[in-house]
Amino acid sequence: MNGTSRDGALGRRFPPGFLWGASTSAYQIEGAVDEDGRGGSIWDTFSHTPGKVQGGDTGDIACDSYHRSEEDLGLLSELGVGAYRFSIAWPRVQPTGRGEVNRRGLDHYRSLIEGLRERGIAPVATVYHWELPQELEDRGGWASRETSHRFAEYAQLLAQELGNQVAMWITLNEPLQAAHQGYRVGTHAPGKTDLGLAAAATHHLLLGHGLALEAMRSVLPADVPVGIALDLHPIRAAGDDAVQAAAAVDAEVNRLFLEPVLHGTYPEAARSELLPAPELVEAGDMRAISAPIDFLGLNYYSPHYVRLGDWDDLRQGESALAGHPGVVNYLPPEIPRTVMGWLVEPNGLYDALSALHREAPHLPVYITENGCAADDYVTPEGDVNDFDRVNYLNGHLDAAWRAIQDGVNLSGYFHWSLMDNFEWARGYQRRFGLYFVDFGTQHRLPKRSAAVYSRVARTNSLPLDGDSLMELSLAHASSG
Ligand code: FCB
Repeated sequence: MNGTSRDGALGRRFPPGFLWGASTSAYQIEGAVDEDGRGGSIWDTFSHTPGKVQGGDTGDIACDSYHRSEEDLGLLSELGVGAYRFSIAWPRVQPTGRGEVNRRGLDHYRSLIEGLRERGIAPVATVYHWELPQELEDRGGWASRETSHRFAEYAQLLAQELGNQVAMWITLNEPLQAAHQGYRVGTHAPGKTDLGLAAAATHHLLLGHGLALEAMRSVLPADVPVGIALDLHPIRAAGDDAVQAAAAVDAEVNRLFLEPVLHGTYPEAARSELLPAPELVEAGDMRAISAPIDFLGLNYYSPHYVRLGDWDDLRQGESALAGHPGVVNYLPPEIPRTVMGWLVEPNGLYDALSALHREAPHLPVYITENGCAADDYVTPEGDVNDFDRVNYLNGHLDAAWRAIQDGVNLSGYFHWSLMDNFEWARGYQRRFGLYFVDFGTQHRLPKRSAAVYSRVARTNSLPLDGDSLMELSLAHASSG
C-alpha cells in the first residue's frame, strides 16, 4: 500500500471550501416534547397511536438532545465537520402553528446556533422536517391551502429572528415523503390514506416552499442562501420492456417535485390523480414555487428498479407498484441492501447528480442527506465496527468525487446522521448514526465510520485510487 495515501495528502481532493457536514432533525433527536411551551405535533400524535411505530417507540425522549446540546456540539467538533444541518421544530417556536412566537423555544435554537458559530461550524437550518403543529393538522394540514400561508409566516419569523446567524436555510425536507407517506399511504404522520388529500398536500407543500422563499428573502440579507431538500431516486428499468413504466414512475416520484421547483410546471407523464386538481392551483402559484433557489439539497439513499411482472407472483422483498398494474418494484439480487431493505448503489448518486447538472447546470447542489442503517452494536472491547457504513461511505463519496470531476456543481456533503436516532415509523430499530447512541444511558460512542468520515472532512480528500476508506478503518481497528 502506498504510505502517502493514508493521510489523504495525495488522494482524490475535493474542491477548496467544499462543505463537510452531518445532519439530524428535531423530532428525531430532541426529546423534551413537553418542555418550555412546546406544542404538540403530528408526530407526537402519530407515534402515540398504537401500531403506527415499530415497538411503540415515540420521540418523547429520543437522544435527549434538547438537554444535551453542549455534548452534541462536542461531537461535531470532534468530527471536525464544517457544518451542521439540524431542523427547527415548528411547535416549539409557534406552539399552535400561528401567532406569537414562543421565546423559550426560539432561544433553544438561538443558543444552538451560537454554539455552532463559536466552534466555527456553519449552522444549516431546515425550517420544516415534518413536525406540523397538530392544531394546523386539525384544520386540514397540508391538504389545506391555509397551511402554506402559516408556513410562510413561520419561516419569515425564523428569518427575522435568526436571520443571518444561519449560514444556509432549507425550507422543506423531502416534500415527497411528507405528501406520499403522510397523506397517500399513511406510513408517516398524519397517517392519511387518500389520493386526493395527497395531491392537495403536494401542491400546498410546494406552495409553502414558494411563499416561504419570498417571505424569508424579504427580511434576510441578500447573501444568505435559501434552498430546498428533495429526495431523488434514479428509476432504473429492469429490461427494455419496462422503460416506459420507469419513465412514468420517475414523473410521479422525482419530477412531481423537481419540475415545479425548477420550471414551474407539473410533469405531464404523472397520473392525473397524483396531480393537484386544477382549481387548487391559483394564479401566481407556479411562479412562486419556481422562484429561483440559491441551491438544491439532494437527499440520496438508493435507486428504484422496476420490472414488468405479475403482482400475484412476487419474489422476496418485491412489491406491486400501486397505480401501475403489471409493474413491480424489483430488487436485483446482485445488488446489496441495507437493513432498511434499500439498495446500495453509489452510481445512483452519480447519476442523480449528473442529471441535476444537465437540468440546472448553474445551480449549486449540496448532498443534504446520504447514509445507511446497519445492525450496529458495541463489542465487548467497546467498539462499534460498522464496516457496512464505511463501505457505503467509500462508494458514495467516490461517486460524489467523480461527479465533481465531471463538472457537477457539488458544494458540500452532509452525512445522515450525526447519531442514531428516532427513525420515524421504524422507531429506534434502525441506526443511521456516525455515533452510536445507547438509548438507555444516552451515552454517545463514535463508530469506526466517525473516525473515517472525520479523516475525510479534515483532509478534504479521499485516499488514492486503489486504496480505500475500508483499509483506513481496518487500520484504525487494528491500532485502536
Ligand atoms: C430521510 C429523512 C430523514 C431520515 C432518513 C433516513 O427520508 O429525511 O429524516 O429519516 O430518511
